[in-house]
Amino acid sequence: MAAITRLEKTFYRLQAQIVSLDWAFEQIQQTPGVILEIGLGLGRTYQYIRQHLPQRQIIVFERDVHSYEECTPPDCDIILGDIFSTLVSHADRFKNRTALINSDIGSFDKVSNRQKAALLSQLIPPYLRENAIVLSDLPLQLQGCESLELPGNARKDSYYIYRKSES
Ligand SMILES: C[S@@+](CC[C@H](N)C(=O)[O-])C[C@H]1O[C@@H](n2cnc3c(N)ncnc32)[C@H](O)[C@@H]1O
Repeated sequence: MAAITRLEKTFYRLQAQIVSLDWAFEQIQQTPGVILEIGLGLGRTYQYIRQHLPQRQIIVFERDVHSYEECTPPDCDIILGDIFSTLVSHADRFKNRTALINSDIGSFDKVSNRQKAALLSQLIPPYLRENAIVLSDLPLQLQGCESLELPGNARKDSYYIYRKSES
């Protein structure tokens, strides 16, 4: 079978983001807490989250803000810098306070993706409340979380979903 092309990979990721976010919005209705967007990029998923969860605080981690104007968070909601530093320095602020994380920081570099996934897997768990949802473009190993199937018509392995288990 032919390898998946970049066009297809991008298409499946964007498709999975929409169905996974829609699903997550339902799942966290009874879970109070902040939303974290890890990797603002052009701001498309941030804008989508803000539109669907206008009452929630959405904090964005990004090293280089280059989002569309209408997709850019207020300065007070942006934590600027390398996430592998900022996720450490802000851990106390968001410890056990996060209801949903959308992490989208991967690239087409497999070695870099593996390193990022390993670091994220260590840094994310302390942030999560019970029943919090984590959506990620990279497969993670999150202690205390279960891995879930993608909802709807999303293609397997195009995005990943985890839920923090009840203790
Ligand atoms: C694929 S884009 C995110 C796209 C976004 N979900 C959207 O809908 O437009 C990935 C972003 O993650 C950021 N990023 C990647 N690695 C990072 C790191 N170590 N620290 C901070 N930001 C990082 C990049 O600067 C880039 O803006």
